[in-house]
Amino acid sequence: MSRKKAVKSRRFRGVTMPTSAHPEIRKVKRAGHEPTIHGNKLWKSSCLLIDYMKKYPPEHTRRVIDVGCGWGISGIWCAKKFGSKVTSVDADPKVFPYLEATAEINGVRTQHQVSRFEKLGKRQLSQFDMLIAADICFWDELVDPVTKLVNRAVNAGVKHILIADPGRPTFTEMAERCVEKHYAEIIDYDVDKPIRADGYIMVLENA
Ligand SMILES: C[S@@+](CC[C@H](N)C(=O)[O-])C[C@H]1O[C@@H](n2cnc3c(N)ncnc32)[C@H](O)[C@@H]1O
Repeated sequence: MSRKKAVKSRRFRGVTMPTSAHPEIRKVKRAGHEPTIHGNKLWKSSCLLIDYMKKYPPEHTRRVIDVGCGWGISGIWCAKKFGSKVTSVDADPKVFPYLEATAEINGVRTQHQVSRFEKLGKRQLSQFDMLIAADICFWDELVDPVTKLVNRAVNAGVKHILIADPGRPTFTEMAERCVEKHYAEIIDYDVDKPIRADGYIMVLENA
């Protein structure tokens, strides 16, 4: 009987997205790093975000903050494609060895910061041109912190704010608040090949 070989990585819009079967990811896992707030894989919303940025390249991409970065592929894509200086932020320090392996596979580096959304203040946010995030508003208790993070980013003058999501009600609640307060748009978005994903992107242009 022949056993199917596990897929080790996928190419997507110019980056390599490793799976948990990738030897470098397995190495990190064997070393005992176990993310605890769902940062245990690359989530498909990041495909929506990457595809959107490829199709509609934002004007200001020099300094990018990727919040709730997990393995960090969206920021890695910006570093690779736009040459952005990227700060990858997550509350869970255990995601960073996975992010480092993913960045190395893609031949780039990003800066790491352990922080909760709540702790990212206006002063720090003012150092960025663009804030990106994929699948970060997945619990009721995240609606307020993510909404307030967007409010602070707008006040700090961050020019583009892009948050992708598979369409969870918690995301919709947060995004609708941003539509009301900041005229954000919620875009129904999908990608088909080589990875299928669908959901929404909240696009806030803070020109
Ligand atoms: C579903 S994963 C998405 C990861 C990544 N953005 C992606 O698309 O693959 C959500 C991430 O948000 C992080 N996270 C959850 N709550 C957070 C908080 N309050 N502050 C910062 N990061 C948080 C988790 O640790 C996790 O890495």
